[in-house]
Amino acid sequence: MATEQGRGGRGAWLGMAAPRYTSYPPANLFDGRVDADVQRAWLAAVPAGSAIGVYLHVPFCRSMCWYCGCHTGITRRPDRIAAYLEVLLAEIAATAKALAGRGRLTSIHFGGGSPSLLTIEQLGQILTALNAIGERDPAAEVAIEIDPRTMIPGYAEGLGRLGFNRASLGVQDFDPKVQAAINRIQPRAQVEAAVQDLRAAGITDLNFDLIYGLPHQTPASVARTVDEALELGPRRVALFSYAHMPNLKKHQGLIPDETLPSSRAKLAMYLKAQRRFLKAGFTPIGMDHFAEKDDELAVAVKAGTLARNFQGYAPNPPLTVLGFGVSSISQFREGYAQNTIDEAAYRDAVRAGQSPVYRGWTWTAEDRVRKAVIDALMCLFEVDLAAVIRRFGLASDHFAAEIARLKPLEDAGVIRRSGSQIEVVGPHRMAVRAVAAVFDAYLGSKPLAFSRVA
Ligand SMILES: C[S@@+](CC[C@H](N)C(=O)[O-])C[C@H]1O[C@@H](n2cnc3c(N)ncnc32)[C@H](O)[C@@H]1O
Ligand code: SF4
Repeated sequence: MATEQGRGGRGAWLGMAAPRYTSYPPANLFDGRVDADVQRAWLAAVPAGSAIGVYLHVPFCRSMCWYCGCHTGITRRPDRIAAYLEVLLAEIAATAKALAGRGRLTSIHFGGGSPSLLTIEQLGQILTALNAIGERDPAAEVAIEIDPRTMIPGYAEGLGRLGFNRASLGVQDFDPKVQAAINRIQPRAQVEAAVQDLRAAGITDLNFDLIYGLPHQTPASVARTVDEALELGPRRVALFSYAHMPNLKKHQGLIPDETLPSSRAKLAMYLKAQRRFLKAGFTPIGMDHFAEKDDELAVAVKAGTLARNFQGYAPNPPLTVLGFGVSSISQFREGYAQNTIDEAAYRDAVRAGQSPVYRGWTWTAEDRVRKAVIDALMCLFEVDLAAVIRRFGLASDHFAAEIARLKPLEDAGVIRRSGSQIEVVGPHRMAVRAVAAVFDAYLGSKPLAFSRVA
């Protein structure tokens, strides 16, 4: 893939590597100073009545999509999934005991991997176990990521019975040539059937995941996929930029470099897709999402309250998120705690009655300042540095070095700056990661493990 870093004008940021900032600092900075003891203390300090979000990670898929950047493994053995479930239930029970009923569940998200490989009965067992964490808010969002290829007859109906009210479908791309090149054959009829079944089961809040930057895609082919996706009537669409990091994800090496679009072609894909969404009346949400005008995310954009966490953009996410399962990340008022990414280590720790947390991060006062700036940019594309300085009681020149570093992006027209007010300019919104990176105090302190901005 061509890298066009360093060129002036419109492409000043193309090819630059930067984190996606679902956390600050990014997870590659986490270290062992947050361990089981720290997590125990943070859990004990969760105030009574706290809103709590839950994330459950299911690290299994039937086959590997070659572009996949998620933490997952391939299995066709139901007994392996059943064994994982048993440990997951034990982890939930241990956390519930430590929390002693102080939580109030406001959102539950099953992610992966492919949580749709769990049976309805297994999902039911997990939801029942979660009742011990705290009472479920009647308005709680209960969401699941679905691989449409795993949907079996009656599955959607089962989800409806369990109270699921949102589903995210992995669509990616409808073009058969692209599907062949990513090892994910998924005819449109399969997605259509999944959508119909979910709607019939009363699950009408449907998200689609699409990716641009995949092998053999062109701006025209991505636009066709967007059109076909819109015909199926999703409420939200995530349009992810393909993160190609074959050094970290070996299977991505099965995608030959020469089949990948250039950074400039990716920019054209994004802009063309964006026009389709705008024409269809969708509101752009942050860097890579689009939502129907009356969707909660669109309303949050208008109200200036959109927020970001590990699951992406959210209208009003709880401060405390408990992650369960291999690799999942919890967020507390004090910082982040991540479970081990090793399935055997996870199983052994939980079975021995220990916490599977292996690393994390405690926010410093300065981290909170930078997180506020980065969150504002990632969610609303603008930030008033003077307001941040006032809010945190900082010296007036606190961001002098960053303002100087923004100059090339300002000269390239990516941002507009008026005094302390910084705004990412419309067509360059997909470059917001590059702008946020200017405020990242840790960037460069560890080897790069991020994908390119485009
Ligand atoms: C856990 S998967 C969704 C559920 C299910 N496993 C599936 O694929 O249908 C989450 C989403 O991450 C996105 N994704 C995975 N690998 C990616 C990559 N390397 N770059 C960008 N997006 C990626 C895909 O759009 C995928 O749908
Ligand atoms: S994209 Fe989804 S289905 Fe494909 S390998 Fe990754 S997690 Fe599994």
